[in-house]
Amino acid sequence: MLLGTQRVNAEGHLEIGGCDAIDLVKEFGTPLYVMDEETIRENCRNYKAVFEARYPKNDISFASKAFLNMAICKVVEQEGLSLDVASAGELYTAIRAGFPLDRVLLHGNNKSLFELEMAMDFGVGCIVVDNLLELRQLKTLAEKKGKTQKILLRVTPGIDPHTHRRISTGQEDTKFGLSVANGDALEAITEALEFAPHLKITGIHCHIGSQLLDAHTHEQAIDIMVGFMRTIADATGWMPEDLDIGGGLGIRYTEDQHPPSYEEFGDTLIGALRAALEKYDVPEPRLLQEPGRALVGETGTTLYTVGVIKRVNIPQDPGTRTYVTIDGGMSDNPRPQLYDAVYEVLVANRMGEAKDQEVRIAGKHCETDILIQSTKIGHIETGDILAVQSTGAYNYVMASNYNRFTKPACVFVKDGEADLVSRRETLDDVVRLDIIPERLA
Ligand SMILES: Cc1ncc(COP(=O)(O)O)c(C=O)c1O
Repeated sequence: MLLGTQRVNAEGHLEIGGCDAIDLVKEFGTPLYVMDEETIRENCRNYKAVFEARYPKNDISFASKAFLNMAICKVVEQEGLSLDVASAGELYTAIRAGFPLDRVLLHGNNKSLFELEMAMDFGVGCIVVDNLLELRQLKTLAEKKGKTQKILLRVTPGIDPHTHRRISTGQEDTKFGLSVANGDALEAITEALEFAPHLKITGIHCHIGSQLLDAHTHEQAIDIMVGFMRTIADATGWMPEDLDIGGGLGIRYTEDQHPPSYEEFGDTLIGALRAALEKYDVPEPRLLQEPGRALVGETGTTLYTVGVIKRVNIPQDPGTRTYVTIDGGMSDNPRPQLYDAVYEVLVANRMGEAKDQEVRIAGKHCETDILIQSTKIGHIETGDILAVQSTGAYNYVMASNYNRFTKPACVFVKDGEADLVSRRETLDDVVRLDIIPERLA
């Protein structure tokens, strides 16, 4: 499974964006997040083009929680997408990167007053309101500042997307948004409309879950959301102009996963939207989306150096297991621990060799941080370079300093050039926030 610009070069090495992975390791060390810039750009363009062709009244935001630093803000801006942020830190990154803030949406289920005020002061295009407390706080702030803030209201369509429970958000039993079914969402909308001119509600939002390998739940969500638009219009006389259906499209982590292509996803979504608009007699809204994983997930590869290789006896067949240990683990990729995530791995300096042994890939943390439970690879030695694929989403951004590990560097590769976009942390970075109080000195 080679993804994006991944190739095998004449030396039998993995190449990404025209860069030899082994040269990248020599220059930047390991662990290393390698992001395939051309494929990110292509994904942004293709996703946009698919929806432009099927439903021109639309806007695509990149969900920055999936992958964020200042460099990606530049790429997203250049490709004409908007940006979804969900914290002061994500917003600050966009601000520092000079991202046009009228193209930013602020999310969050428990936004602080600081975050709300920051968003308003910097002129964030839209705040996606999650709850009544936030709605009222926002109205007070807008009033105080003499501003009109555009908002969407996040609602819960009440459907279970059947993905990992930790990334399911559309069901009734959730911390996100307000329920359509129990009337909370309609009540909040009625209140929001009364808060004009301080707040200008433009529509409704939902995000049903992530890593969805078909579009069935999106279809159901669209039907419920458009039905709810009709309910809102009948109850309040106001028809939402924006319908935001969040993100959620899955990617290939392993060869046996087959998410819909952007085209298939677009056909299903727009088919469902047009059918629902007719069914509920609703005029065309602007369709907003916030894909994260689908734009960057397959564009990331993490390179590690193999350290200890250990064979242990196990009671089940074949009686032994080989542990291949890498120089990273749960601090640079917590997804196996969080979501039982699965990954494919390549031996970057021995591409094309027969995969004749089954191994377990382990991290080096003081936990049983197994990165890959079981995978087939060829010959492997200490010092070899492992390339874990599809680590572009929810990896770099989820990195921690557990065991006081330094966070890895991140490079963008394109046309044979590699640029550092986030440097590796140093040991000094690890202690930079520590303070020894006088009495302990
Ligand atoms: C509100 C919202 N929008 C968009 C996304 C992006 O989801 P994905 O990366 O699955 O496309 C998320 C992910 O958690 C989210 O919470």
